[in-house]
Amino acid sequence: MPSSVGATKAALTELIARLRPSRVRLVGTIFVLLGAGVFEGATVGLLVPLLAVLVTPTAGARLPVVGDLLNGIPVGSRVTVLGFGILALVGLKNLLMVAGSRLAGALRFRSVTELQRQLLERVMASGVATLERHTSGEITDVFVSEAYRVNRFIDACLVFVQRSIIALSYVGAMLALSWRLTAAAVVVGAVVGFAGERLGRKVQHSGRELSRASGELAREVTEVVGGLRVIRTTATEAHFAKNFGAHSESHAAADVSISYSLALQQGVIESVGVSGAIGLALLAHHLWLATGKLDVPHFLAFGFGLVRLLPALNVVYATQGYITAVVGTVEHTLRWLRLPAYPARPFGSERFPELTDGIRLENVSFSYADGHTPIKNLSCFVPAGKTLAILGPSGTGKSTLVTLLLRLREPSTGKISFDGEDYWRFSAIDFHRAVGLVEQEPFLFNVSIFENVVCGRAGIDRNAVLAALKLVQLGPLIERLPQGLDTVLAERGTTLSGGQRQRIAIARAIVTNPHVLVLDEPTSALDAETEQEVIAAIDAASVGRTTIIVTHRVSAMKHAAYQLDLATGQVTARTSDATLPQPAARAGV
Ligand SMILES: Nc1ncnc2c1ncn2[C@@H]1O[C@H](COP(=O)(O)OP(=O)(O)O)[C@@H](O)[C@H]1O
Ligand SMILES: [Mg+2]
Repeated sequence: MPSSVGATKAALTELIARLRPSRVRLVGTIFVLLGAGVFEGATVGLLVPLLAVLVTPTAGARLPVVGDLLNGIPVGSRVTVLGFGILALVGLKNLLMVAGSRLAGALRFRSVTELQRQLLERVMASGVATLERHTSGEITDVFVSEAYRVNRFIDACLVFVQRSIIALSYVGAMLALSWRLTAAAVVVGAVVGFAGERLGRKVQHSGRELSRASGELAREVTEVVGGLRVIRTTATEAHFAKNFGAHSESHAAADVSISYSLALQQGVIESVGVSGAIGLALLAHHLWLATGKLDVPHFLAFGFGLVRLLPALNVVYATQGYITAVVGTVEHTLRWLRLPAYPARPFGSERFPELTDGIRLENVSFSYADGHTPIKNLSCFVPAGKTLAILGPSGTGKSTLVTLLLRLREPSTGKISFDGEDYWRFSAIDFHRAVGLVEQEPFLFNVSIFENVVCGRAGIDRNAVLAALKLVQLGPLIERLPQGLDTVLAERGTTLSGGQRQRIAIARAIVTNPHVLVLDEPTSALDAETEQEVIAAIDAASVGRTTIIVTHRVSAMKHAAYQLDLATGQVTARTSDATLPQPAARAGV
């Protein structure tokens, strides 16, 4: 296991590098806190002349630094002047502390929002293949709990820096008061630090465990919520409750283990620290005070510094413990920020003016990461404006082919071209405006019908949305709903029937007036009556478009000029006007 300091340093360095825009604030914040530390140290420094003057009113002249200054002040006013001097320094220090914590707050705000922005960007930029390896619960956890802990980590690092600066300023002041005592105090500090570092490893381990358990717990909750119907209808509540209980327990155990380890660390540190301080006082008393190497004002001021230093050090060690505990979370979050972007070979920036010739697949193959190759050397041509029906038993690779056509996955070998152009060259926005997709299970967002159809795309007005909805025969439904187009759908559209959901998905696919429409078993989840409504909607939606439809339903194929049997890779003509390009001609393009 790497040392807790090493892991923290690595995580912090990467975090700072990734949240670059906040660097100026970071330096500014540390600078202000540094200023506060200097004033704090100076306050302790002024205590010596104050104590000296209190003990011997005429002592001022012999004191270093302030001696000359005090000589100019009448003996009777020296205590007052020094008192006000200390007050002013404390005031300035606190002013800087307030400014520093405001700056630190702004820094944290920026860091966390920037972190979440980058996380979302990474998730959206990654490929379906990457996200398939994670559950939605786990991903949600990274955004919510993990990002929150990263926030606390940043906060703890700032508190750590702040208190370390304060502690250092005390050490500086103490050094000026007595180097002997300070040297002895540093030895005690080093012992405490060493003990803290050893105990920190246990905390760090529990922290990593907490991060893992938190993801598991979130996964379990989303599974239970998503699969509630299955759980209820199989009467397996007890089984799921037991599973959940186990995850909940390991999460709580990691949390408790952190608290326990931190308490242990705190206890050991405090005991070692206090023993050291007492040892120091005894040492000073016997060795230096008795022999006159140290006078009483210096000794008292040193003692005051030490008393103020201990709580600051306590906070330093406590935040260090916390930092160690959450470093695993930060590492986990950083791994998400390193998620590989898809596609590795970027899309081009070409416009997609119109499909006039057709879509061609040449020797296309696709293998999954596990080596399974559902699409092997597939070649076919869909002339513009025609419909191709894709058939084949379940598991032959129909949906895989759809993901290839939509550029959600990249063919392992072979070429797909639209009007002779490699389809990878089209810009993402242009390509997806030109190629509409309808999937077997439509995904509806928890927003209004209007927003579900528009899906955030620019330049789509209410008339276009209404026209698309009317085309798929949803006009009467919209009229019936009190809020019409603005009716907010329940999560995943559960307030609508399957057929209505699917027709909203078709309206979404055609509202940009795409040249190509791809449908993946759009009616297979529907009953016979609803199916007819959806097929009518598909018929209306595919008029004038090149349509590729994966289906087993003969009624959904009636307009298909061609059919591709994916089990054999053979394309056949279904209508008399459909002519099949010769293999030689195909190879020539
Ligand atoms: N993400 C994946 N990773 C590995 N294999 C997969 C993945 N998705 C699908 N497959 C496999 O690829 C084959 C084709 O799947 P799919 O395209 O969904 O078939 P279809 O749509 O024709 O029923 C199946 O054997 C399936 O198990
Ligand atoms: Mg499928």
